[in-house]
Amino acid sequence: MAKTSNNFHNDFCPQTLFLYGTKKEDGTPDFGLFCWFSYIHTQSEGGSHLGVMACIGEEKLTKDRIRKNGVFSANLVTEELLPLADYYGTTYGRTAKDKMKFMPTVEQGKVLDVPTIAESPVTYELKVQKEIHLAANSDLFVCEICNVSVEESLLDKSIPFIERLKKAAPVLTCGETTYESINGKYLGQWGEPRKRMTDK
Ligand SMILES: Cc1cc2nc3c(=O)[nH]c(=O)nc-3n(C[C@H](O)[C@H](O)[C@H](O)COP(=O)(O)O)c2cc1C
Repeated sequence: MAKTSNNFHNDFCPQTLFLYGTKKEDGTPDFGLFCWFSYIHTQSEGGSHLGVMACIGEEKLTKDRIRKNGVFSANLVTEELLPLADYYGTTYGRTAKDKMKFMPTVEQGKVLDVPTIAESPVTYELKVQKEIHLAANSDLFVCEICNVSVEESLLDKSIPFIERLKKAAPVLTCGETTYESINGKYLGQWGEPRKRMTDK
């Protein structure tokens, strides 16, 4: 296979998307869209177990609130949630005071004081263990997973995993600022799906 060196990028390396939920100073929720999210093993009270690393870029409301509260939720984005998620990912919470005029069904976290999204089939409740400054506009949050809530039907092991995955319908971003479905369907450019909400 002939390979050529290309500019640094992660195209062709699919990533799932998450809506991070934090509480603002007045207790109301803020949601932002994130894809630089992956898994680690981390040390916590009960020994070493699955944790999360979340890389957050430039200063933004989500980062302010994570630093202040030390906790947040990560809600898997599905095809159904994509227009709202795309809107949250392209609206800057620090300046758009009415950002939360569009809302999912918000629930309270089961073990942490975080807002979670009922329509998301998989929700992590995360506690920050450590923040590592990596570079200008790049900070890594190493987190302990304190709870994972999963839609019950996805746990029915009598159904093959691939069928349950298709049912969950997570959205991927695979490169070139586009969204794709788990079935390989093109779901639009970043900034496009939100138009289904904002252009109504
Ligand atoms: C598809 C997509 C993925 C994103 N992933 C990240 C990410 O991993 N890290 C990050 O810092 N910002 C990411 N963003 C940008 C944030 O969603 C954006 O800064 C947003 O304003 C955050 O919400 P907030 O302003 O309420 O904090 C992404 C945006 C899009 C559209």
